[in-house]
Amino acid sequence: MEDKNIINNDFKDIVFNRQSVRKFDPTVKISHDEFEQMIAETASAPSACNLQAWHFVIVDTPEGKEKLKSYFMKFNMPQVETCSDMVLLFGDTEAFKSYRDLWTKAYHNGQIDKEKLDEVFSTFLPLYEHADYDTLVMDASIDSALAAMQFMLVARSHGYETNPIGGYNTKKAAETFNLDAKRYVPVMAIAVGKRAPQDKPEVKSVRYPVKQICEFA
Ligand SMILES: Cc1cc2nc3c(=O)[nH]c(=O)nc-3n(C[C@H](O)[C@H](O)[C@H](O)COP(=O)(O)O)c2cc1C
Repeated sequence: MEDKNIINNDFKDIVFNRQSVRKFDPTVKISHDEFEQMIAETASAPSACNLQAWHFVIVDTPEGKEKLKSYFMKFNMPQVETCSDMVLLFGDTEAFKSYRDLWTKAYHNGQIDKEKLDEVFSTFLPLYEHADYDTLVMDASIDSALAAMQFMLVARSHGYETNPIGGYNTKKAAETFNLDAKRYVPVMAIAVGKRAPQDKPEVKSVRYPVKQICEFA
């Protein structure tokens, strides 16, 4: 994968110095070309059965931001107003409908053999074709949550900061952007941009001690 806009390749810095930024430099614009590169890098995240049940809506216009203001909670307005882009991440409960084409293409490209193709069609695909809606929502949400984390780290490697956001009216998320609300379930939004000077010093968020959250079995 081309990595022309990756300016930070320091794993420790990218991962451990990530923190939610809520005030961005509003003058910064991220090109669609670079954004598509970040999404391509994000889409290398793992997903159950490689279903890739995620869908990204990238909001970067004043009109789009007005729409966000109609259903985002008030405390998230600084991010809406100052971010370069707001990524709306939806789980796609119908991703399995493209699954046959994806794997058939991989087979024709010589990336998998016939045995693997048959296995996919006889083992994984029926799981989704016969799954109930709640299972499809859960699977799509898990896939998308992994993509969300990967996106936040990819953004840092491009020199941007992020804030994951769940504070919005989830019932309005899909319909506001003309998506089928049954198919596309909201997972989270992610504000992206360059850090602006903050009004008050950022407090590093605290974590529970490992012994409290972890056990060996
Ligand atoms: C699913 C999810 C929803 C969140 N929703 C909001 C939100 O609505 N507004 C906000 O300012 N931060 C939100 N956050 C950010 C968290 O507050 C933040 O990640 C947490 O306090 C840890 O801080 P850090 O990101 O700086 O490490 C959300 C984070 C996640 C993962």
